[in-house]
Amino acid sequence: MTPKTFRIKNFGCQMNVYDGERMAELLGDQGMNAAADGEDADLVVLNTCHIREKAAEKAYSDVGRLRREDGSKPLIALAGCVAQAEGAEAKRRSPMIDLVVGPQAYHRLPEMVAEASRGARPVDTDMPAAAKFDALPARRRAAPSAFLTVQEGCDKFCTYCVVPYTRGAEISRPWPDIVAEAHLLVEAGAREIVLLGQNVNAWADGDRGLAELIRALARIDGLERIRYTTSHPSDMSDTLIAAHGEIDKLMPYLHLPVQSGSNRILKAMNRNHTTDTYLAIIEKVRAARPDIAISGDFITGFPGETEEDFEATLNIVDAVRYASAYSFKYSSRPGTPAATMEDHIATETMDERLRRLQARIGEHSLAFNRSKVGCETRVLVERKGRRPGQMIGRSPWLQSVHVETDAQPGAILDLTLVAAGPNSMTGAVRRRAAA
Ligand code: 5AD
Ligand code: SF4
Repeated sequence: MTPKTFRIKNFGCQMNVYDGERMAELLGDQGMNAAADGEDADLVVLNTCHIREKAAEKAYSDVGRLRREDGSKPLIALAGCVAQAEGAEAKRRSPMIDLVVGPQAYHRLPEMVAEASRGARPVDTDMPAAAKFDALPARRRAAPSAFLTVQEGCDKFCTYCVVPYTRGAEISRPWPDIVAEAHLLVEAGAREIVLLGQNVNAWADGDRGLAELIRALARIDGLERIRYTTSHPSDMSDTLIAAHGEIDKLMPYLHLPVQSGSNRILKAMNRNHTTDTYLAIIEKVRAARPDIAISGDFITGFPGETEEDFEATLNIVDAVRYASAYSFKYSSRPGTPAATMEDHIATETMDERLRRLQARIGEHSLAFNRSKVGCETRVLVERKGRRPGQMIGRSPWLQSVHVETDAQPGAILDLTLVAAGPNSMTGAVRRRAAA
């Protein structure tokens, strides 16, 4: 039977959120409806992530949990990076899975769902160089802050990372497609666009790079804010750095992972930068845009990491004074070079280092947030808060801001930041800046 309702469960990164939205639109075009909260769906798409910790096992146990009390089950699609990594093996490991679709094959989802409802168990994990994007439908609804994938895949081959294997080689979407989609998003209600890519700052179309693209998008009326994520230090060009000081709509926030503060570990990670070259980039970015909020990613317990290496990581956290940062325990990914390196670190050591690292990052986040108290700024309202009359929005520096207001999502408020917490700010409205 052809499904009438669907649910998409997203795990992992923002690119999966974007892909999930596109799959929803694709299924919607086939006349299917998203299942309401709490309602049983005829089709469940598990949009999985493979980056850390027993990802495949987790996906299979999520599949198992989809069996209903009466023993029946929805049609189950395994999508995302676990689908890419497991391929046809997924069908052998779980008889409940009806179809397996990799991140480059989403445009084929409706036809695969039709095949699956006739009892076939299709698998498509091809990675064609031609992007899937052309075949995906236009955007009709957009959140105040909308994602737009401009680049996918990675050629950097950091030794711990599966992305080059699950998402494939770097590809950039063509300039005209991105500009057209940005216009559609703004018409559909977006006031901020977040350009996404595993290596977004490697985006290029001919001799035009991300800075030129941002400059063009900034000319779209009604689009108020632009962000991009995630960037690799090697692709942080001088033009892109300069853009931070030149384009008002480009928000003062940069996510630039460093991963470790030890040059020995950075080399073993195949990061292609040292702490000095990284810090030089941060210095240039701050010269272009002094108030910029810097964010990053860290891994603790990479094979061979000594206490001294780890202390070097704490030192770079102090040197950069991150406004926020994500940190993870090293997770051995089968098939990556690091998985077969010597001196894997004991879990307890990783846990202990992660706690110290997060405490240090937390000190800097709080200091950053406190430095903004008293600041008059603008906040883009995104959603309702927990309390009645409370809304949550984002400051230019990507802080969550709680504010009492009757303004709706999409409004931009002129407000004063009046209090700082470790993870959010409180704002008081001065006036409504724009409807
Ligand atoms: N183990 C732990 N963290 C990892 N990341 C990527 N691969 C691994 C791994 N094998 C982290 C990196 C990257 C972020 C998206 O996930 O910090 O920047
Ligand atoms: Fe993975 Fe490194 Fe590529 Fe980032 S740059 S996706 S960490 S291989």
